Amino acid sequence: SGDVDLLVVGAGFYGLTVAERAANELGLRVQVIDRRPHIGGNAYSELEPSTGIEVHRYGAHLFHTSNERVWEYANRFTAFTGYVHHVYTTYRGEVFPMPINLGTINQFFRSAHGPAAARALIAEQASELEGREPTNLDEKGVSLIGRPLYEAFIRGYTAKQWQTDPRELPASVIARLPVRYTYDNRYFADTHEGLPVDGYTAWLTRMADHPRIDVRLDTDFFADHDLGRDRVVGQLPVVYTGPVDRYFDYAEGPLSWRTLDFEEEVLGVGDFQGTSVMNYADDDVPYTRIHEFRHFHPERDYPRDRTVIMREFSRFAEPGDEPYYPIGTATDRARLLAYRDRAAHEPGVHFGGRLGTYQYLDMHMAIGSALAAVDNQLPDLLAAGR
Ligand code: FDA
Repeated sequence: SGDVDLLVVGAGFYGLTVAERAANELGLRVQVIDRRPHIGGNAYSELEPSTGIEVHRYGAHLFHTSNERVWEYANRFTAFTGYVHHVYTTYRGEVFPMPINLGTINQFFRSAHGPAAARALIAEQASELEGREPTNLDEKGVSLIGRPLYEAFIRGYTAKQWQTDPRELPASVIARLPVRYTYDNRYFADTHEGLPVDGYTAWLTRMADHPRIDVRLDTDFFADHDLGRDRVVGQLPVVYTGPVDRYFDYAEGPLSWRTLDFEEEVLGVGDFQGTSVMNYADDDVPYTRIHEFRHFHPERDYPRDRTVIMREFSRFAEPGDEPYYPIGTATDRARLLAYRDRAAHEPGVHFGGRLGTYQYLDMHMAIGSALAAVDNQLPDLLAAGR
């Protein structure tokens, strides 16, 4: 490895941002490895072969940010469409706009309230606990938005997400439930929003396209002979974006995650649901939502007689499953502190990204924290890793 200055483990947004900056800005020769057969991490997308419709392989990815630095940086590699995200939910055979807003409330209660009357109604319904501290997620939900809306739109959906009765889930699973007292059902409130014009994989590929960056796929940091942990750590500075518990051989115990299962189907209709994401709030519908990918790119010339949908199912991750959402039980939090301590004493290795820090990060957060790490931590890492 005498011809490499930095090893980046993981070709997701975090790893590729560090690699791009290190190569372009610092002039370093960067080796990127990923154990998957493709770059991009969870943001990877590809065209469904029979329709040419772009499918996000690890779940729908919507780009949105209010961070000007991240927006400017992203625009170096891709232009963005004007896509604006909206979500609807089906409950007992009726479709409502999400997040809960004045339209949802008036449809649900068959009313014509203005903002003040709706606010008073929800406050009155939310006072059911009479000031008592909620002891579980069910009570917390009622205390935030009242029983009728909670039971319709939150309870069944949450039970499916966690495969657990909300009465057995801690109140801390939800901090707040946004209710908008306007008819605005734009999903994200960020300054910038859009989808990469020619897709996520083209964007991510351009980030890695530099003569000083080499990407090696199908290469596992814990198995590779030349670029594996035991060979490299101490010899070469490492930016590690894989799971932090895996790095330390689960010495403090495994961190828990939720995973998702996706069922993709090509249908012989031009439009299945009329929108990109439909949630299913009823607990007797086994999936949490259906994505219909053509609606992410209405500007594209997609076939008019076929469409691609993906049903999403949620459950606790077991060994070997893709880790998607950190659960963060009290045990997890204690273990994470112990891992952080170990990580701080691992010279020449920087832990970053959603797996390396056991944190849910949106794409703009992964990019933003990687840019900050290049500024603040990379200089020391380069000095210590040699
Ligand atoms: P990421 O997981 O992408 O990359 C880590 C890489 O490390 C992976 O490619 C992995 O294979 C590799 N790796 C792990 N172990 C390794 C080993 N031992 N050896 C070699 N390589 C190894 N964000 C957003 O902004 N809008 C959205 O709509 C969504 N939607 C969304 C849906 C779902 C279901 C999820 C789970 C996530 C989102 N996200 C999102 C978040 C987005 O996916 C996230 O911000 C980025 O993936 C984070 O990039 P990282 O590089 O941190 O991790």
